[in-house]
Amino acid sequence: VSQFEKRTTELKKLVNQQLAGMLTKKLPITLYDPMRYVLQGGGKRLRPLLVLLACEAVGGKVESCLPAALAVEFLHNFTLIHDDVMDQDDIRRGRLTVHKKWDVSIAILSGDGLVALSYRVLLSKSHPRIAEIGTLFSNTLLEICEGQALDKEFETRKEVAVNEYFVMIQKKTAALMALCAQIGGILGNGTDAEIEALRSFGFHLGVAFQLQDDLLDIVADEKLLGKTWGSDIMRRKKTFLLIHALQQGDATTKSQLQAILQKEVIAQSQVEEVKKLFQVAGTIEATQQHINRHFDLARQYLHRLPSSQGRQFLDRFLDSLVKRQY
Ligand code: IPE
Ligand code: IPE
Ligand code: MG
Ligand code: MG
Ligand code: MG
Repeated sequence: VSQFEKRTTELKKLVNQQLAGMLTKKLPITLYDPMRYVLQGGGKRLRPLLVLLACEAVGGKVESCLPAALAVEFLHNFTLIHDDVMDQDDIRRGRLTVHKKWDVSIAILSGDGLVALSYRVLLSKSHPRIAEIGTLFSNTLLEICEGQALDKEFETRKEVAVNEYFVMIQKKTAALMALCAQIGGILGNGTDAEIEALRSFGFHLGVAFQLQDDLLDIVADEKLLGKTWGSDIMRRKKTFLLIHALQQGDATTKSQLQAILQKEVIAQSQVEEVKKLFQVAGTIEATQQHINRHFDLARQYLHRLPSSQGRQFLDRFLDSLVKRQY
């Protein structure tokens, strides 16, 4: 086991213990049971790890940024509960989504509860820059909402430009990753240049991460992914893959894709067909190229930090994301 694996296992354990300790309240069970269910349902804990590792990379201590690490995981889980309602998904982390196991009202409310918990823990520890951190956190939450609004708008739009797609994922996914690395840097008392570099590192990591998420929707093993295979296709999501194939595919590929998109209901049986069209259009490779480019950019920003074991851990963190299968 490498030093990195040892450290991340320790930190993940700490995060999970703390999260569980904050969800001990029982009543009403229709509020707290789903909140616990979501937080105990696994999850890679990438965002809290990013906060903690960024803090350590500038020489900070874990205890100073632990509340912020917990806050971003609460916020992330809130977005997932509501996202599954919006995307009509039945499975997440290999289990029923909250609105399927309970109902939509309970999904709305338990999501709201997680937002409250995220602010409560974020502001639980005083810090000279806590007002600034609170503002950054609020701005990020609003930006995620904007990204999710665009994601939904694009479902019913016939044409979405690649640039519009990138704006959408920057908001719905990269903004939070950028925030994680940035507040880790602030709470670790990094220099302004280090904090800025960390923010850009997190941002490009987030862009690459969402491109991978789009790719995994169609190339991953459903069991391993813990989400419904081809959900994006069935929901007419304007992912990078779909936009690329509609633009770069040959005439037959395009018309076959358009025919599927015009159907009243897109069944899962059609996903295999779409996957083949993506392969013909060179979409899988094109997506992988963009993923690689953003991981490279993330690495370049990271290397603006002076070399240290903490920075090396963030390097390994990036490596683990490059290889991810779920
Ligand atoms: C899923 O995030 C939502 C996206 C932003 C793509 P993760 O893949 O980090 O989800 P968990 O927390 O590990 O389940
Ligand atoms: C998730 O995007 C973005 C947020 C949750 C804010 P997706 O809708 O692609 O995430 P998954 O695939 O359901 O995890
Ligand atoms: Mg979704
Ligand atoms: Mg979504
Ligand atoms: Mg997805």
